[in-house]
Amino acid sequence: MVIKTVKSNVARKYDVVLYGATGFVGRQTVAYFAKLPAALQRQLRWAIAGRSAGKLQEVKTACGAGARNADVIVADALDVAALNELAKNTAVVLSTAGPFAIFGSELVAACVRNGTHYVDITGETPWVREMIEQYQDQAVKTGARIIPFCGFDSVPSDLGAWLMTQAMQAQHGEECVSVKSAVSMRGGVNGGTLASGLNMLASDAVKDFAQPFLLNPKGTQPKDKSAHEDPVLPVNDPDFRAWLVPFVMGPINTRVVRRSAALLGYGKNFHYQEYMRIGKGPIAAAAAASFSLGMASSKLMVKLPGVKQVTEKLMPGPGQGPSESAMNNGSYRCELVAKSASGKMLRGKIADSGDPGNRATTKMVCESALCLALQFDELPDAAGSAGFLTPASGLGDVLVERLRAAGMTLEAGIK
Ligand SMILES: NC(=O)c1ccc[n+]([C@@H]2O[C@H](COP(=O)([O-])OP(=O)(O)OC[C@H]3O[C@@H](n4cnc5c(N)ncnc54)[C@H](OP(=O)(O)O)[C@@H]3O)[C@@H](O)[C@H]2O)c1
Repeated sequence: MVIKTVKSNVARKYDVVLYGATGFVGRQTVAYFAKLPAALQRQLRWAIAGRSAGKLQEVKTACGAGARNADVIVADALDVAALNELAKNTAVVLSTAGPFAIFGSELVAACVRNGTHYVDITGETPWVREMIEQYQDQAVKTGARIIPFCGFDSVPSDLGAWLMTQAMQAQHGEECVSVKSAVSMRGGVNGGTLASGLNMLASDAVKDFAQPFLLNPKGTQPKDKSAHEDPVLPVNDPDFRAWLVPFVMGPINTRVVRRSAALLGYGKNFHYQEYMRIGKGPIAAAAAASFSLGMASSKLMVKLPGVKQVTEKLMPGPGQGPSESAMNNGSYRCELVAKSASGKMLRGKIADSGDPGNRATTKMVCESALCLALQFDELPDAAGSAGFLTPASGLGDVLVERLRAAGMTLEAGIK
């Protein structure tokens, strides 16, 4: 497929700056950009950024000829002047420097001030809520599109739900009232992801994590939220004909999908929920029960004194992650079921090979940045839409097509 290339709406020295380029995912984003087709390499001006000049130079060298023309920018996450200069000089920032609640706020502020578009891979919903409260109005004024959650949290969920609502309209002319997703995945855990989770658990923000409409714009929450609470028990679901348990990333992804539902008008009765697929039969039933028990007890255990310190010692630290072979052999699959008020049902599937937190996340966030840098005039409501958006509301079909071209399966409307 040939993707039309048009420059972003803001003309700057760089099209994209990869911030956090020395991290475990950051290094993979540099490798992804270094392998873009030669024709695109010739017109795309990109740079890598982080706090350490030496480490950035090492990353650049390791990525070979494809990264030769990438400039190196040094800017600590707390250096307001350096971040301001960085944001002023680029159309788009792609950030992988987390925990975002520690290293992300000044960068978002700099992008908002300078009307610079921004994507990241955070899953830290309370931090994003805080950023929305502080900067939404200013971002609308400066024209910055700020799009967090462009990794495995929450691109498959957000694009999946959005495609299903569209397919229901197209095939049955009816509004979608519910979308359910059952996720299967194989992959490893990054030290940076653990650090972000532990940082959130240790902060006051953790109490906000359970709010089902944490990310919704003001005035778009239903009065009765009981039907939208996170599931806690295993279910033998008749639509999937399998045992399902609560999905660990559901409390992140559902909030993002609900923000999209409000921004894109899925309808006031829209309902979205996410699970992990265990399987069929009595063994799966037993596995589902013990999985749910394990999840519930780990939620209690992390609050015990000393558990955070022990976890930090035993698990991978910042900068570490799964082996190359584990990342290459990983995969994920989200099966979707959508229903209309009259009972019409459609199925869908979002899937890809590669470790979700690394290979898949890298593809999703890099393609998200390229949407803003290269195809801005094709984005949803490109002229008028700024502020804090979601992958579906800010990038929509352009991201769907770019991801399909990059090998990801996005199917909606299978009967
Ligand atoms: N959405 C998803 O599915 C998904 C998947 C994976 C990861 N994540 C999230 O992405 C983030 C990064 O994960 P990771 O595994 O790549 O973590 P990581 O390897 O620990 O990388 C962290 C990055 O932040 C940088 N950093 C730390 N302190 C800084 C400072 N003061 N100024 C500037 N940069 C600073 C580090 O720079 P140095 O190299 O100089 O230390 C490094 O580049 C985490 O928040 C994680 O939760 C999300």
